[in-house]
Amino acid sequence: MAEPSFNVEDLISRAMEAKTFAYSPYSNFRVGAALLTSDGTVFTGCNVDNACYNLGICAERNAISKAVSEGHRKFKAIAIASDMEYQYISPCGGCRQFMREFGLDWEVYMTKLEGSFVKRMVEDLLPESFGPQNLKEGVIPVKNRN
Ligand code: THU
Repeated sequence: MAEPSFNVEDLISRAMEAKTFAYSPYSNFRVGAALLTSDGTVFTGCNVDNACYNLGICAERNAISKAVSEGHRKFKAIAIASDMEYQYISPCGGCRQFMREFGLDWEVYMTKLEGSFVKRMVEDLLPESFGPQNLKEGVIPVKNRN
């Protein structure tokens, strides 16, 4: 089945809208993400801080988890929005690995506040990565372990 075409500006708008739901009382840094699945569904996410700081979750992982938990694993693009005027919001290393789990060949749109963006592929953001395929080799059966 052909992949649906999509409007980047619309996906970015969805990420900006998701940002308004950010729960960020500790980081004071709002992030929103909008994830487009290969069947054209959009899942959004915002960052959710926590009083136990290290338990907070990023907007991107939130959106990806929402999609996966509703049966979607094939992704076309993700747009990310923050309040930064002069820098494109760049996904953290953990989120890059989380994206990579679901393929290297999909698009990441990193935006500035006014809506300009740069596009990268997941593979560009996490070259030479470790992923699901690597686990198919080198797993030692329990009986052979020492
Ligand atoms: N954050 C995201 O949600 N996505 C990013 O791409 C970068 C960082 C969040 C985590 C934390 O809530 C706040 O932004 C500051 O790091």
